Amino acid sequence: MGKDVDQRLATIMAGLVKHLHQFAREVELTQSEWEYAIGFLTKTGQICSAERQEFILLSDTLGVSMLVDAINNRRPEGATENTVFGPFHVEGAPVRQMGEQICLDGKGESCLFTGRVIDLDGKPIEGAHIDVWSDNAEGYYDVQQPDIQPRWNNRGVFITGADGLYSFVGIKPVSYPIPDDGPVGKMLAHLGRHPYRPAHMHYMIRAKGFQKLVTHTFVGGDEYLTSDAVFGVKKTLIAPFVRVEGGETLWRSDFDFVLAPAENLAGG
Ligand code: BEZ
Ligand code: FE
Repeated sequence: MGKDVDQRLATIMAGLVKHLHQFAREVELTQSEWEYAIGFLTKTGQICSAERQEFILLSDTLGVSMLVDAINNRRPEGATENTVFGPFHVEGAPVRQMGEQICLDGKGESCLFTGRVIDLDGKPIEGAHIDVWSDNAEGYYDVQQPDIQPRWNNRGVFITGADGLYSFVGIKPVSYPIPDDGPVGKMLAHLGRHPYRPAHMHYMIRAKGFQKLVTHTFVGGDEYLTSDAVFGVKKTLIAPFVRVEGGETLWRSDFDFVLAPAENLAGG
């Protein structure tokens, strides 16, 4: 490397080359296996478009997304843990009133999601933006079916008041396969892995003075909790989903989100 190379770039590239060479030595990579790998990466790039990011899926299914997330989001005891962001968030979802419905296609089993956004001392956080998104009852996000689902189906942003409380009505999420019709899906099949994610609700919570929280709540008892295709499950994120008798919704899920103060950002 040249003299004036950015120090961080030099560190990253030196580490990458060192471990890549070590990997090739360790498995005694053959010429044809390396050609196959280059073909695989070429196809992974070729299937990418504005709507499809196969490299994120590759990173997710190899556990790299969760590793990078863990390195960069070390949280103090008691703060809600992060998990994988995924490719289906859309910025600019409608801001809705507390208690409002986010499911616009009328499908699925209704669920009241409720709880508080609080700090490490249990004090309510006012003005937290809670951005939520989930798949529909058939296991697809609205952006995967723009001609079938209403725009902003199962999405919304809720802003907490002084009590830190949130509530909205959606559906009890269902487990679904990540897009598996491309090279990553083929890789999973060759490895005897299924493409499913356990049922979850996505949250991104931003509040002034606090670290951004990107997380899910998972439906307890889901059959894929121990084999998530993208390794996103953390025990602390498994939420109760309780059947409601005679209520306005079929299910209710209570979960408090605990935000860490901004000064605890990993790496300072
Ligand atoms: C998701 O949960 O939306 C997701 C995460 C990683 C890969 C594909 C989908
Ligand atoms: Fe998801």
